Amino acid sequence: MKVYTTIGAIASMAVLVQANTDLVTLSTPGAAWIQEVDATVILPQLPNPVSGHNSLWSAIYTDNDESFMQGVSAVGPGDTYCGAAGTTAWCNNAYTLTGTAPNWNVFHGTSVTAGPGSAVRTHYKLNPTTQLWDQNMYINGNLVSTLSMSKGEHGNLFYISIECAAGTCAPHPAHSWQDVSIVLSQADMSFKHTGAWASGATGGVMSTPDGGKTWNFTTLYVPEQTAQQ
Ligand SMILES: *[C@@H]1O[C@H](CO)[C@@H](O)[C@H](O)[C@H]1NC(C)=O
Repeated sequence: MKVYTTIGAIASMAVLVQANTDLVTLSTPGAAWIQEVDATVILPQLPNPVSGHNSLWSAIYTDNDESFMQGVSAVGPGDTYCGAAGTTAWCNNAYTLTGTAPNWNVFHGTSVTAGPGSAVRTHYKLNPTTQLWDQNMYINGNLVSTLSMSKGEHGNLFYISIECAAGTCAPHPAHSWQDVSIVLSQADMSFKHTGAWASGATGGVMSTPDGGKTWNFTTLYVPEQTAQQ
């Protein structure tokens, strides 16, 4: 799914045009819903050349598409959150959209740059005390960006994706996601995905230590992505 408002003009020399690819898509099939997610991307090299708006993200959609929470790492002149620094390093923030395209309401925490090899962890949890979703982003273990909103909403979709959100983008360099885990509101063994993930991603094997409430993934390896739909 598209998440950013895109720019109309697409250059004729497009390497990749505005599009996104969901590598991991997981929905809650029954009564169980998502109450917590943890996901860490190890930032890859910058795309070559840096152009447009390459991004990598994990995300949760809540009931009835009320909120789309994303831990975003983006680079390119099409990303404005880190200014010029966001063309020479990845720009990272906790980010949430509400509403519907193209009239999104955009919320984001502090935007912080980080270079290749940095571990960018986003932890999303429906806080049982406040009933707000606390979205906390850490870079190499340091809390850098937060949002607390989306009161009482229930997660029903989880994504790991790449996107070319503006202009044209070079291929997304190979990267990996570590320590991915999802906690459901109640056990549901049918949440398990079997078989390959999309676009050549490998690993990401799901297992549960507690009969289907908590789901842990092995490291997900995403090869360079030269085409997107
Ligand atoms: C599953 O993931 C959670 C959260 O990252 C972690 O605390 C727990 O140790 C993991 N369990 C297993 C069996 O790996």
